Amino acid sequence: MAYNFKTFKSRRNTGSSKWGAMVQSNPSLPTDIIPLSVADMEFEVAPEIINGIKKRLTDNAILGYERPTDDYYTAIINWMSKIHNWQIQKDWIIPTGSVVPALVTAIQAFTNFEDKILIMTPVYYPFYDVINFTHRQVVDTPLTFDGENYQINFADFEKKAANSNVKMLILCSPHNPVGRVWKKAELEKIAKICLANDVLVVSDEIHADLLMPGYTHIPYATISEEAANNSVICTAPSKTFNLAGMKAANTIIKNSYLRRLFNDQQNRRGDGGMPVNILGQLSVQLAYSKGETWYHEMLTVIDDNRQYIEKYIKENIPEIKVLPLQGTYLQWWDCSGLGFQNEVELGNFMKEKALLFLDDGYLFGDISKQFERINIACPRNVLEKAMYRLNRAVQDLRNS
Ligand SMILES: Cc1ncc(COP(=O)(O)O)c(C=O)c1O
Repeated sequence: MAYNFKTFKSRRNTGSSKWGAMVQSNPSLPTDIIPLSVADMEFEVAPEIINGIKKRLTDNAILGYERPTDDYYTAIINWMSKIHNWQIQKDWIIPTGSVVPALVTAIQAFTNFEDKILIMTPVYYPFYDVINFTHRQVVDTPLTFDGENYQINFADFEKKAANSNVKMLILCSPHNPVGRVWKKAELEKIAKICLANDVLVVSDEIHADLLMPGYTHIPYATISEEAANNSVICTAPSKTFNLAGMKAANTIIKNSYLRRLFNDQQNRRGDGGMPVNILGQLSVQLAYSKGETWYHEMLTVIDDNRQYIEKYIKENIPEIKVLPLQGTYLQWWDCSGLGFQNEVELGNFMKEKALLFLDDGYLFGDISKQFERINIACPRNVLEKAMYRLNRAVQDLRNS
């Protein structure tokens, strides 16, 4: 490996949200316990990005107003073409100060108070928040868990999309937390139903680059010309390159009318002039133009981690079922076999007995209270220690 994915550095007392939440919940934890929750990585950012940022600050120590340059747009266009076979144009790209704010902008631009917005649950919990905080209404079409994996319940989806008050679908593609990479046929069905019912598709593709072997992400806007013209695609290099703190993303909108409405909304918030700060812009450009080798190595590390946990749990803790991870670095565990009465007991067991700081399934929806989400973007030895603690805690549970 050309890059270091083995060394772990503590982020205690650095302001890290993930670490801070863990320490707050148990201040007396041993210092070698690492949180495996919030979706950022315990890997240092690629040296190509860090060195590029250092060089910018050394060569030009003026941090005035700056707009993205042509190189910025070219880096995005080339990445989407090379990695996703998606041909986009410069004027479709709207820099936005990260993906969740872009979802809010889209909701405000394209829907009205009390309109209904469809989401497929369990799902990344801020989807509920962005709908509730903008005073729209969540319409939930639960995914079906067949004991092995999740499927879209198209009968329910179509019934709900047909409600004339449903104006938007927020699609999570790939899907956090269940780890599905949607197939072309599934996206085509979504497109058909949404077009027939005049439902705009906002596709959150922040995890698009994070694919396990054998899986291909299909950008929603490549499904058809009609789908492209009825969609808003949220992208960012933040998950792929561990840049969440840079608050830099790009919303890609082919349809010029939708683009104008989105831009107007961003401008109304005063965010239009320079939505992403200088270092955020630069990190996007550096990631997409210089990060590809790091990216491919990082994916092999995630895939190895995925396989390690799948095997370990299958052999040692059959009470937990690890769902097949197709995309994202967030593995989804069905913990119903542990036999806890409710989500509080399960969450407490993980935190207090196994010293595992995961994201409890109930956060993502009522139907996933017996699940846990684990972030596997960390050095292997962190996971080995975590598995050891979990195994020991489950043995105690069996003996209790
Ligand atoms: C599906 C999804 N969308 C958005 C985000 C957060 O995006 P941002 O930090 O760019 O607001 C996450 C983070 O985990 C995510 O999983």
